[in-house]
Amino acid sequence: MKKAIIRTSNLCKSFSNGNQKLEVIKKINLDIYEGDFTIIMGSSGAGKSTLLYSLSTMDKYSDGNVEFFGRDITSFNEKQIASLRKNEMAFIFQGINLLPEMNLFENVAYNGYSKLKPKKSVNDKTLMLLEKLGLAKDKYKYPSEVSGGQKQRTAIARALINDPKIIFADEPTGALNSSMGTVVLDLLTQLNNEGQSIVMVTHDIKAATRGNRILYLKDGRIDGELYLEKFNQSNSKQREEIVYKFLSDKNW
Ligand SMILES: Nc1ncnc2c1ncn2[C@@H]1O[C@H](COP(=O)(O)OP(=O)(O)O)[C@@H](O)[C@H]1O
Ligand SMILES: [Mg+2]
Repeated sequence: MKKAIIRTSNLCKSFSNGNQKLEVIKKINLDIYEGDFTIIMGSSGAGKSTLLYSLSTMDKYSDGNVEFFGRDITSFNEKQIASLRKNEMAFIFQGINLLPEMNLFENVAYNGYSKLKPKKSVNDKTLMLLEKLGLAKDKYKYPSEVSGGQKQRTAIARALINDPKIIFADEPTGALNSSMGTVVLDLLTQLNNEGQSIVMVTHDIKAATRGNRILYLKDGRIDGELYLEKFNQSNSKQREEIVYKFLSDKNW
């Protein structure tokens, strides 16, 4: 039995513009399981990002509940939410928002520093992550001095500094060329194979094949889901066909 990291009940999110109410997420009941690489797909405007933001405390939902490891976060105060985000969650987005005045090392280490940890252990972990992501020799460069792919890998290293229980990624390869995108996807795949739980929004079928569970979001509801084995290079072609068929059945 897989353990649920996140459980939503009747999750709703609406936006109001003037006197109009736009319901984007409509009573979603969804479990996100530990160890899964969960993919959220759907057409543009289906509510993928909105769902991800609601699941990950990036945005407030309008109604229903979200539990994180059995704790209902609906009534959490700002401080509890901040602690949850810092210590248990990580975020990777398309717009790579590294701090321009810090070098890559500092960007990765920054969120790791805390009163509770010796600085040296954070520095060591930062070096280990930079090495793992192939960034060791660029660690003293500034974001303006490296490529988009290097920036995105730095953003992933930064996301891992506090050993998150889950990584949320919204179109993490959207701003990268295809070979850089592949590097980033390979990395996320490797992390997942090591046990890291990931939820990723994408509109890219190749990116989607990296997941072992694909949710299809349509008009604010989960309209279908597909389970796959874990990704490896030898089954990549075959699973692309399976995912393609799943999506064409949804008129994607
Ligand atoms: N902050 C906001 N204010 C008003 N409407 C929003 C806001 N964010 C998203 N929306 C609307 O919600 C719908 C879903 O958006 P989004 O979740 O970004 O879709 P997706 O990521 O699937 O492309 C769209 O119609 C969008 O215009
Ligand atoms: Mg989006």
